[in-house]
Amino acid sequence: MTLAQWTEVDDYFNGLLVGPDEALDAAVEAGDGAGLPAIQVAANQGKLLNLLARLQGARTVLEIGTLGGYSTIWLARALPESGKVVTLEADPAYAEVARANIERAGLADVVEIRVGRALDTLPELAAQGHGPFDVVFIDADKPSNPDYLAWSLKLTRPGSLIIADNVVRDGEVVDGASEDPKVQGVRRFTELVAAEPTLTATALQTVGSKGYDGLMMALVTGQAPESR
Ligand SMILES: C[S@@+](CC[C@H](N)C(=O)[O-])C[C@H]1O[C@@H](n2cnc3c(N)ncnc32)[C@H](O)[C@@H]1O
Repeated sequence: MTLAQWTEVDDYFNGLLVGPDEALDAAVEAGDGAGLPAIQVAANQGKLLNLLARLQGARTVLEIGTLGGYSTIWLARALPESGKVVTLEADPAYAEVARANIERAGLADVVEIRVGRALDTLPELAAQGHGPFDVVFIDADKPSNPDYLAWSLKLTRPGSLIIADNVVRDGEVVDGASEDPKVQGVRRFTELVAAEPTLTATALQTVGSKGYDGLMMALVTGQAPESR
């Protein structure tokens, strides 16, 4: 199987199940035009995030890693009128692109972008009394995933869903000797999720237009493992 085949299959399903979308397509175009890396989730993955947030009945979402706001728009659209997404982005230029994209999508009142390293903005959020969030989407610098897990646990409640992207990394996640700090970040994150008694989780490998990677989903149970 090749990337071309995976992309063709993504295109097939997206053509029937996702479809063109003015605001989302414009967000990708604006990101490309501004020179942002094309590392946003694929359309069918964005739709999955949207469906998961809706299944959760989410009113509040915390996103770590905004880029141009593509996944932010998918998540924000899942929320009721009074809902709120707080999204964290380190790069001020990316955040500006995201701001314009989110405004064009009519979601400026729903989304708050906080600019700065997430390990600085997360403690601020907590100190300001934000949370608990119904959904957390972790999609930023992978070496920090273990810290993002700790903050996610502080900023959620039993019943919340924590989602992490890019946990497979072309299969490298199984290489314990990897010298790639992203791989090690994802491995440590996975071990911490596995050891956390208040979480129950799974991870799925994915292929598609974005290559070979995967998603972790962890439900906050708030309970001991035997009652999961
Ligand atoms: C994979 S992209 C996010 C893609 C986005 N979630 C989407 O699917 O549309 C990762 C983003 O995390 C940001 N980032 C990297 N390190 C960060 C940090 N320490 N704090 C906050 N954001 C960070 C990057 O600048 C980049 O925009």
